[in-house]
Amino acid sequence: PGDVTVRRLAQGIGVSTEKIEEVLGSIGEEMQSIEDRVPMDAAELAAAEFGWAVSWAQSITGSGTKAEPRPAVVTVMGHVDHGKTTLLDSLRRTSVAASEAGGITQHIGAFEVKMPGSKRSLTFLDTPGHAAFKAMRARGAKVTDLVVLVVAADDGVMPQTKEAYSQARECGCPLVVAISKCDLPQANVEKAKQQLVAAEVELEEYGGNVQVVQISAKTGAGLLELEEALILQADVLELSALRDGTAEAVVVEAHLDKGLGPVATIIVKGGTLHVGDSVVVGTLWGKIRTMKDSTGTPINSVLPGQPAEICGLRGVPQAGDALLAVCNEDRAKRVSDARAARKMAPMLQVPHMNGVLSGCGET
Ligand code: GTP
Ligand code: MG
Repeated sequence: PGDVTVRRLAQGIGVSTEKIEEVLGSIGEEMQSIEDRVPMDAAELAAAEFGWAVSWAQSITGSGTKAEPRPAVVTVMGHVDHGKTTLLDSLRRTSVAASEAGGITQHIGAFEVKMPGSKRSLTFLDTPGHAAFKAMRARGAKVTDLVVLVVAADDGVMPQTKEAYSQARECGCPLVVAISKCDLPQANVEKAKQQLVAAEVELEEYGGNVQVVQISAKTGAGLLELEEALILQADVLELSALRDGTAEAVVVEAHLDKGLGPVATIIVKGGTLHVGDSVVVGTLWGKIRTMKDSTGTPINSVLPGQPAEICGLRGVPQAGDALLAVCNEDRAKRVSDARAARKMAPMLQVPHMNGVLSGCGET
């Protein structure tokens, strides 16, 4: 995924294909034809030769015949204390109980839930989904497919509700509203809905396309309905990605663990990430030493749409950093050096094969 042909790369950079082939040859990538696909890391090194940095942020969705369905990535947003974490906890608990995988062993920033009704998977961004979402948007990474806007029935629309809504709208993500805490005696669903309408959220029952689900994370009421709404939206998006080839992922959160060193939670956008892969993340590099799924179970590979916690990076990346698997450690070092050297360079946007290659102008 993300690979680009010699011809398109040359076009994007604005040099001849011969020049591109020459540079690629010098880093050990022999091309047979200008329609040959250049691996992403090699394309990045070639672009760097001509003074371009490369943004792979747009390359994240595969398409075409070989693309396979992937789980939707759902970010839960809403005002403080409106019940985001409790909702996620109850979704996760139900799911863990349903799959009999045992107890919840650890908390990571993103987790995959096999939905109890449809048995389909969704990947949720846990709190601080809001902050991560912002950071990722600021870094040009689009990781979220859907947004759940949580509004507490006893509190109604608050400032952060509006902020979350405008963020979701800006990124063009379909939205489902979950009116939470409906079990409370002081719950006032109608009032919350009126406030949503006043905040220009286009609710379905008022002729818009935003579905509203009434839930209680405490009693479990409405959770299946929420699941159905999310699966419905995910189906409309027909999310798919290529599983073959070099993995691309996005960092959701990262920290330094005393024992393990840098630990990052990532979501794979395309390809399959394996233990042992050499990777570049921002201007850092590393080699994946271990990976865990969201229940804390060690895993060897991660597919598109799935989250994982990874160890083996040489530093702590930032939320929103793009991770790219490369062919070996040497290449990883070279690409991260090239990125560091080109930090201020103009960005060459290189979307996936079916997209358009476009530069943002030479300086
Ligand atoms: P922040 O992460 O601080 O923004 O809050 P949050 O949106 O994650 O809210 P959280 O899930 O922590 O819930 C806040 C409080 O509301 C907690 O005391 C929860 O127990 C309570 N709460 C959440 N959901 C429900 C619900 O469905 N019913 C009732 N009665 N209480 C709830
Ligand atoms: Mg929370």
